[in-house]
Amino acid sequence: MIEISQLSKRYGPISAIQNLNFSIGKGEVVGFLGPNGAGKTTTMKIITGFMAPTSGSVKVAGFDVFENPIEVKKRIGYLPETPPLYMDMRVSDYLKYVAELKDVPKSKLTVAVNDAIEKTSLGPVRNRIIGNLSKGFRQRVGLAQAIVHSPQVLVLDEPTVGLDPKQVIEVRHLIQKLAGQLTVILSTHILPEVQATCKRVIIINKGQIAAEDTLEGLGHRMTDARRFFIKVRRPQGVESQVRSLKGIKSFKKMEDGHSFEVELDRTDEANEVLAETVVKSGAGLMEFRSIDVSLEDIFLKLTTTDHAAQLGAQS
Ligand SMILES: Nc1ncnc2c1ncn2[C@@H]1O[C@H](COP(=O)(O)OP(=O)(O)OP(=O)(O)O)[C@@H](O)[C@H]1O
Ligand SMILES: [Mg+2]
Repeated sequence: MIEISQLSKRYGPISAIQNLNFSIGKGEVVGFLGPNGAGKTTTMKIITGFMAPTSGSVKVAGFDVFENPIEVKKRIGYLPETPPLYMDMRVSDYLKYVAELKDVPKSKLTVAVNDAIEKTSLGPVRNRIIGNLSKGFRQRVGLAQAIVHSPQVLVLDEPTVGLDPKQVIEVRHLIQKLAGQLTVILSTHILPEVQATCKRVIIINKGQIAAEDTLEGLGHRMTDARRFFIKVRRPQGVESQVRSLKGIKSFKKMEDGHSFEVELDRTDEANEVLAETVVKSGAGLMEFRSIDVSLEDIFLKLTTTDHAAQLGAQS
């Protein structure tokens, strides 16, 4: 649905993005992650046709953004970092105005506006002046203007920035709801946001792709092993049994003398055998849990120079 090839953008002497290549399939929800200044907004502005690249191409639903901007704009909804709201307009009037700008036929205007209002739960404030709304509600108006022309693709630039935790959750739910029907690319540096809404992530660093994978795949990339935390009542004897298992990569005894961290090959059988061995050893199993690599760990590793170079080279 979105195909980006060899995309580069320079702002005078500053190179914001360099030779980006990626594509996003129909119905996918992809998180676009990266530290400040990585090039997320720049890329999104180019995808949505708001800015021309220095070189490279972007296709949306088969249409080239710069050869067929009108076809692309019909199919794309964009929530910029700062939504272009008219503060002195009423919510429904503003949405009607945006729908008209986006060429929604006159006969369908009312339905389109009502539909966007319903999807973003703006019913109770539809007649309020936008400037008087709270930030969370304004953000929803931003989302409503992005979907009012029923686009196939939604581009959201940090959709929950500056919202309180309750509104963050509401906006996330809203995105999850829209995600079922649309292709979505969402930029953020809030990692739980990605875990809550996206299947796949593209991590960008200094204008280049540092990694592109499913969340699960990223975890795998970082390590070929899985780590487990095990706590037992009677630790004597367990260690030798666990150490002799096939697929064990490391065994670390914790200071309390009752807990261990075990690293083993990433296979289902290895997990099963480990659990079974501990239980059968009669050591009195109290706790058994996997210690997963967090997305924070992955993000930090990928966006600090050494790992970024190493993993970037693999992708
Ligand atoms: N209009 C501009 N003129 C000059 N440089 C710019 C302009 N817009 C962005 N840049 C530079 O391009 C780079 C990428 O910026 P961009 O806004 O795309 O990053 P971002 O990933 O969206 O960052 P953030 O997380 O802070 O929003 C940065 O070095 C930034 O300073
Ligand atoms: Mg940005």
